[in-house]
Amino acid sequence: MKYGFFDDANREYVITDPKTPFPWINYLGNHDFFSLVSNTAGGYSFYKDAKFRRLNRYRYNNVPMDNGGRYFYINDGENIWSPGWKPVKTPLDHYECRHGLSYTTIKGQKADIEAEVTFFVPLNAWAEVQKMKLTNKGKTEKTFKLFSYNEWCLWNAEDDQNNLQRNLSTGEVEIDGATLYHKTEYKERRNHYAFYHLNQEIDGYDTDRESFIGLYNEFSNPRAVLDGKPSNSEAHGWSPIASHYKEITLAPGESTDLIFILGYIENEEEEKWESKGVINKTKAKALIDQYNTVEKVDAALKELADYWTELLSVITLNHADDKLNRMVNIWNQYQCMVTFNMSRSASFFEVGIGRGMGFRDSNQDLIGFVHQVPERARERIIDIASTQFPDGGCYHQYQPLTKRGNDAIGGGFNDDPMWLILGTVSYIKESGDFSILDEMVPFDNDPSLAQTLFDHLTISFNHVINNLGPNGLPLIGRADWNDCLNLNCFSKDPNESFQTTENNTEGSKAESVMIAGLFVVYGTDYVALCQELGKTEEAERAQNCVDAMKEAVKQFGWDGEWFLRAYDFYGNKVGSDENEEGKIFIESQGWCSMAEIGLEEGMVEKALDSVKERLDTPYGIVLNNPAFTEYKIEYGEISTYPAGYKENAGIFCHNNPWIMIGETKLGRGNQAWEYFKQICPAYLEDIHDLHKVEPYVYCQMIAGKDAYKPGEGKNSWLSGTAAWNFYTVVQHILGVSPEYKGLKVDPCIPNEWDTYSINRKFRGGEYAITISNPDKVSKGVAKLIVNGEVIEGNIIPDLGEGNHKVEVIMGTTSLVDSASAEAVVAE
Ligand code: GLC
Ligand code: GLC
Repeated sequence: MKYGFFDDANREYVITDPKTPFPWINYLGNHDFFSLVSNTAGGYSFYKDAKFRRLNRYRYNNVPMDNGGRYFYINDGENIWSPGWKPVKTPLDHYECRHGLSYTTIKGQKADIEAEVTFFVPLNAWAEVQKMKLTNKGKTEKTFKLFSYNEWCLWNAEDDQNNLQRNLSTGEVEIDGATLYHKTEYKERRNHYAFYHLNQEIDGYDTDRESFIGLYNEFSNPRAVLDGKPSNSEAHGWSPIASHYKEITLAPGESTDLIFILGYIENEEEEKWESKGVINKTKAKALIDQYNTVEKVDAALKELADYWTELLSVITLNHADDKLNRMVNIWNQYQCMVTFNMSRSASFFEVGIGRGMGFRDSNQDLIGFVHQVPERARERIIDIASTQFPDGGCYHQYQPLTKRGNDAIGGGFNDDPMWLILGTVSYIKESGDFSILDEMVPFDNDPSLAQTLFDHLTISFNHVINNLGPNGLPLIGRADWNDCLNLNCFSKDPNESFQTTENNTEGSKAESVMIAGLFVVYGTDYVALCQELGKTEEAERAQNCVDAMKEAVKQFGWDGEWFLRAYDFYGNKVGSDENEEGKIFIESQGWCSMAEIGLEEGMVEKALDSVKERLDTPYGIVLNNPAFTEYKIEYGEISTYPAGYKENAGIFCHNNPWIMIGETKLGRGNQAWEYFKQICPAYLEDIHDLHKVEPYVYCQMIAGKDAYKPGEGKNSWLSGTAAWNFYTVVQHILGVSPEYKGLKVDPCIPNEWDTYSINRKFRGGEYAITISNPDKVSKGVAKLIVNGEVIEGNIIPDLGEGNHKVEVIMGTTSLVDSASAEAVVAE
């Protein structure tokens, strides 16, 4: 427990040393209003969109690291300190940060004064509430001065950083007692303002940054705090802030509670003003009134806790391994909610101004989220599909605020369309709601072009077969899942991005074996969906395409010991033993194994053995090997990264589960589990200093074996890794997955496991599933007993509401006499 420990009973990670190897952060908010908060209270808040509606400033990649946040300062005459240690960094007598589910509590103590602050965004509120408790732990009376600090961002976070010639003149505030309003640009086109409120009378304030901090001071030593008094400044341009000042006296043992509210308000055009130049504060006052007492805040905190209890009760695991329990029951699901909300927009690695919601990313995020709130998944699927083009291609990204495709990135990533089938099918299997397929969904956000969602899926499927290359394999386009394998770019200009530069597909022979595998997996899902809908002809047509793809992979996608990765622009092999560097890639091994292409011929087994031999490391499976050591213009960005990082032979955690699932296709539960544990954060606590990033969430990338420091993690939180690992461990290792007709049970586990149980809420029913493994096998269901009755096969039927008891006995030979089982089912 060098920096902290898991407190599973409270669903918290407790940090005991503020100097973690990197800021260890948390997310607040689950809908519309969000905040990022580090273990020293750094971070920022935004409404829906971290680019267009950012409330407060944050300084990425700054010195010191993690610079900017909701800061509090205490000056007791002798010590000046902050409860979260930063920004003052006065050594504390005690420090603790508890990151919980959508809240964070930071407690600091200095010279007998204890300050505990809980940060959270109440359910359905457009506000961050900060509940502070100050306690005199000493034996004498204490008098001290408290300052809050919040620096406003002028809404558009990108503009805020680069258009200073304008911005330093536009800032406007309004001061109304203990409520400090930020109204920059409200008088022209904006319909929104923000405020920072304290629920008590204050003894002063500042709203101008320079007045509070001083031009030559820093966050660590603001002038007002050093002087022990604010200047009641009113900002006009420059950098508006909101800082409250309060003098506090506490008797020995006495406590006082303060509630700060950082809120966001939108007003209709005709209701913007109270009087000329004075903003209409009605909604702000109503919002304040909802959370301005300890009782109200505690009730909102309880509501939030109950919300999470309910969400997490959909899937609960009871296993002998605590680390696995805490990942499955708490943290991995929590991260899946965060990735669903954020896609790849805002983290401590994604600055919130570049990438919004990703087409492929958000579809994949759904597989870890859909069981939590299926209705939100439904809405998301429609939003995503609305950014598809009529030919099946898609905008690669869209902005969460506008839900519009992002022209700056455009489209042309030929894997994108297939992920829509994954997202949609996952939703239907979870919810049983086929009606989503009949929804009319626009193309390119143009309602006049709307067709049903089912049509979108058909068009997605067809996009692959309409774009086949010379070997009958899918053309890669700009890139497939691997954004950095840019086979049609030939970029010589360091000023252009590989994702947006010219895409020279004219005459290109660049084909992707990964998309081929992806197409077989989700094409098969599409076939099954058609069958389910009674569209037999379409099912047959699609099946033929899938079969043809399998053949093409066997014929042109196999290298002898593993699957090829691609063909380049000229038709040369990529990911072949013939190549000097990049002989083998993970993605095609994963997808072709998941697709079971060449399973009978031994291809899957050989490919996965090659992965083990060439790509596996103690810290996870690297993406390719050998790493590229020079820039290959015909490969693009992948060869720009130093060896062992990111897509160039880094451990890209997102794709490790593809190999795990592949292993389960072979029944190799021990190997799947080993791969799972290698990258699962709860198992990495002992190597904190190396791993660096949060031990409670997955990161996108761990440095690979060719890197300077193998095992070093980066880019935590926003990665498809969260959803893929949750999906893999629950559905493919522990083996309980939703199907159209019910819940399928098909575990593939380490053979030494005895027993575990899963409680699964599913379409209104609740299934208590116990799996036992008396014969110590890795795979195979010998007997399935549902509510006391033996059932043939391995699907628990959808039994509707009520509690259902399920016993699963694993073994290699069926213990069910099929004649009698049929009789039982028929009864
Ligand atoms: C990033 C992107 C994702 C991409 C992956 C591999 O994680 O968000 O879309 O598939 O990198 O390049
Ligand atoms: C870079 C990253 C990749 C990411 C892409 C998004 O290429 O290496 O992981 O998906 O940017 O634009």
